[in-house]
Amino acid sequence: MAWQMMQLLLLALVTTVGSAQPRSAQARTDLLNVCMNAKQHKAQPSPEDELHGQSCVFPTHQELHKDTSHLYNFNWDHCGKMEPACKCHFIQDTCLYECSPNLGPWICWRKERILNVPLCKEDCERWWEDCRTSYTCKSNWHKGWNWTSGINECPARALCRTFESYFPTPAALCEGLWSHSFKVSNYSGGSGRCIQMWFDSAQGNANEEVAKFYAATMNAGAPSHGIIGS
Ligand SMILES: *[C@@H]1O[C@H](CO)[C@@H](O)[C@H](O)[C@H]1NC(C)=O
Ligand SMILES: *[C@@H]1O[C@H](CO)[C@@H](O)[C@H](O)[C@H]1NC(C)=O
Repeated sequence: MAWQMMQLLLLALVTTVGSAQPRSAQARTDLLNVCMNAKQHKAQPSPEDELHGQSCVFPTHQELHKDTSHLYNFNWDHCGKMEPACKCHFIQDTCLYECSPNLGPWICWRKERILNVPLCKEDCERWWEDCRTSYTCKSNWHKGWNWTSGINECPARALCRTFESYFPTPAALCEGLWSHSFKVSNYSGGSGRCIQMWFDSAQGNANEEVAKFYAATMNAGAPSHGIIGS
């Protein structure tokens, strides 16, 4: 359900962007400044969409603090309480998805979803480290939940075990969790070649340059290292 909802939002976004801006092959501005803000999707991001700070403090995203995300009704505590440090990464993940205007190059237009966003190596490693002791019952959170109660519950026979047992490596977590929405980059934050899940907005939006780089790569028709999957 969470994912279907995201897809619907994306579809709306794609439609909006598609009609508002002519698909110019030379500029490909359609790949830049595409905002995924779910509540009020705008083609152009505004300063309020910016992500703030490095810690888990979200003045503009209060609803994401709740254990069951208000936005998608997705319950991160489906196997008991998720460790706060772990949950922080999921809040960031949701926030990146919701608020980042820089994911345009990875929207798969045919499937109306994002695919293979190159996540900075250490962002993925930290996510995995902070979550290895929390519990879950599935290695793919996209599908297969029991939604009969209105929130995601573990399906029958899916046992609650540590993250580490469902996701033996950082890549298994970051790539497997949402069916390859992310791809673990071999680049590090600050390289200008990978998307940071979180950054200090005082130093500017590091992901802007990354989106520009990949949009230009795609524009040039160069092989994009499988960034947009088929
Ligand atoms: C789904 O969850 C409900 C309780 O919320 C339970 O009664 C039902 O048996 C579950 N179905 C499956 C297929 O696990
Ligand atoms: C990442 O991989 C690409 C191609 O596989 C390579 O050209 C590049 O040098 C690598 N970058 C780093 C930081 O290892």
